[in-house]
Amino acid sequence: MPTEPLVAAAPYLIEQKYQDYTPEQHGVWAELVCRRRPQVDAYACREYLEGYEIIGLQDDRLPNLYSIADRLRPRTGWATTPVSGFLPGEAFFEMLAARMFPTTTWLRSRDSLEYIPEPDIFHDVFGHVPMHAHRVFADFLQHYGAICARVKDADILERLGRLFWYTVEFGLIRQDGMIKVYGSGVISSHKECTNVIEKGCQIRDFDLEEVLATPVKVDELQKKLFAIENFEQIYEAVQQAERQLVAG
Ligand SMILES: [Fe+2]
Repeated sequence: MPTEPLVAAAPYLIEQKYQDYTPEQHGVWAELVCRRRPQVDAYACREYLEGYEIIGLQDDRLPNLYSIADRLRPRTGWATTPVSGFLPGEAFFEMLAARMFPTTTWLRSRDSLEYIPEPDIFHDVFGHVPMHAHRVFADFLQHYGAICARVKDADILERLGRLFWYTVEFGLIRQDGMIKVYGSGVISSHKECTNVIEKGCQIRDFDLEEVLATPVKVDELQKKLFAIENFEQIYEAVQQAERQLVAG
């Protein structure tokens, strides 16, 4: 399927210079993965774990974004596309609509393993990208981007941002009689994941109206999160949000 060239996102596209990563940086990646492994193996949803294998992540090496894209493209049409950093909404949504996931190439240093204020390649790839191998999630994310790309109203964008936050970033799912995690913010953070496992936060059944009415808190542990039953539920939710907030 031919895709339109990117316009808003074009200034942010960069190359990943894989050969420039140092042994120290590969070592930091390995340590980050090693720290997250026990919780992720026990609490990540099965679609995430399958995706991790499909995209060919290696526990002890930083990921090559082009190799990942080569594995994803035939499966769901997604690519991991290197960008220079945080993107404005218009550019971000344009890329999601084109099935390109804006992916940072920098990696946190050893003295900030648990927390960084802006996403790095660990958050983006370890946290987000395995889910892009799952067809329903992949279609959901593309559709989300396409909808947001059409919206100019800041209040509607904020409400749609809550849908992103409580799914892509902090989504939970009921599986095998347990709460499992699929959102990047929970997958990639020990504190947030522990907060979910130890019931530090309230876990509600996913309900679009409640999600759209729940403001996002970015600078504290999450107090209320939402668990889906399956990924079709969020695909339907994004279409419902479109009918409710955008199309009318
Ligand atoms: Fe994220």
